[in-house]
Amino acid sequence: VPTRERMVVGNWKMHGSLALCREMVPAMASVAQPDAALVLCPPAPYLGEVARLAANTDVQCCAQNVADAHSGALTGEWSAGMLADLGCRYAIVGHSERRRHYHETDHLIAAKAQACLEAGITPIVCVGESWVHHQTGQTEVVLQHQLGTLLALPEWHRLIIAYEPVWAIGTGVAARPDTVEAAHRYIRSRFATRDPVVGNNMTVLYGGSVNADNATQLFALPDVDGALVGSASLQSDALMQIYTAA
Ligand code: G3P
Repeated sequence: VPTRERMVVGNWKMHGSLALCREMVPAMASVAQPDAALVLCPPAPYLGEVARLAANTDVQCCAQNVADAHSGALTGEWSAGMLADLGCRYAIVGHSERRRHYHETDHLIAAKAQACLEAGITPIVCVGESWVHHQTGQTEVVLQHQLGTLLALPEWHRLIIAYEPVWAIGTGVAARPDTVEAAHRYIRSRFATRDPVVGNNMTVLYGGSVNADNATQLFALPDVDGALVGSASLQSDALMQIYTAA
């Protein structure tokens, strides 16, 4: 049975530098507490540096992507086992930018999540509907579809889900609290069909324009355990404020 974790995950996307790693990790380590996870997801070339700097601190390291295989002739890929080797605990899987720009399907995303679970990495799987689906009231249909392949995994109960409505990402305007709460409750209900205890105890994060101003309100929602933060995670003071709110 999983236990709900308070979590703030900073996804740098394809931004940052070695200098940012060296500024952010010690800054975050100075505020991180063991009872709420503070997780940084730098671009892949910086994972080693962040993992090294974060060792023996309460800052955790996370990849933005991972392969669906453990090794092989797969130029340009890296495995979950390699992340574990670095001391990373998590990997983001199925971000909407990867679904959109790199044509990742639900099937591939489930295979990546499975590869993570086999290597002892906790996948943070992103789900969320487009603006059109939001506007036409199809959020739950989309989520049901995206969660379906995940619920078929043998270790489905070990997943962390991040609800990221595509239309709220990078806009500066987060989804309304009632919208977020309803989606999170729905996600839990899908897991609860398999096991009510897991549905209630799993960790569900919200992502999409989380910032220092809206974090407190979002974290107060009963079914929100934390945030997947994009642009605000590139500024140490903003990320610290969001973490403090969690
Ligand atoms: O993974 C986090 C993300 O997609 C949200 O980005 O910039 O809207 O916080 P942002």
